[in-house]
Amino acid sequence: MLRIVVCVSGGGTNLQAIIDGVAQGAIVNTQIVKVISNNRGAYALTRAGSAGIESVCVSPKEYADREAFNQAFLEEIDRAQPDLIVLAGFLVKIPEELIRSYPYRIINIHPSLIPSFCGTGYYGLKVHEAALARGVKVTGATVHFVDEGMDTGPIIMQKAVAVREGDTPEVLQKRVMEEAEWVILPWCINLIAGGKVKVENGRVYISE
Ligand code: GRF
Repeated sequence: MLRIVVCVSGGGTNLQAIIDGVAQGAIVNTQIVKVISNNRGAYALTRAGSAGIESVCVSPKEYADREAFNQAFLEEIDRAQPDLIVLAGFLVKIPEELIRSYPYRIINIHPSLIPSFCGTGYYGLKVHEAALARGVKVTGATVHFVDEGMDTGPIIMQKAVAVREGDTPEVLQKRVMEEAEWVILPWCINLIAGGKVKVENGRVYISE
């Protein structure tokens, strides 16, 4: 059984896609053992509660400094004894100690086709605003392993989404979520649960 911890900050639609995937059998042999948020008001926490999943809020605002927050965050993760940590819209920088402790066991969903529109400052609607400003005809989403950089880890899966005439950032964000994020994140978790994902020399190989 793959034990996963999901880290969230907002609405939790990607968390919901994972919850639904497990419930409907699209994600096999997996249990969400804990949901962690940095935001006490995150609707994702409500989604976790409705699904009967333990959740906890660890907010940097409630700690004297970043080091104290990192320590509390690490303790919450370790206590859950996860096999995989999933960042699903988690807007907090991951402590390097966590990345060292869980090499190639932390994945992230980013709402663009990395390496476009990613890195520092590219999150949420800002990603889609940049894509529209650049005039790209295709965007999408990426699932990647988390390394010490920002959106720089080995790419596991990507899915393209058409940009349409007249798209607003909000309309595009919703299409990318529906057509890409909510599809590839559960799919990647299922592949990892099946032992079908490996990394060699910084490249990801998937065995079907
Ligand atoms: C998603 O667009 C995801 O790609 C990005 O943050 C957003 C989180 O949305 N990392 P939700 O909380 O899963 O609804």
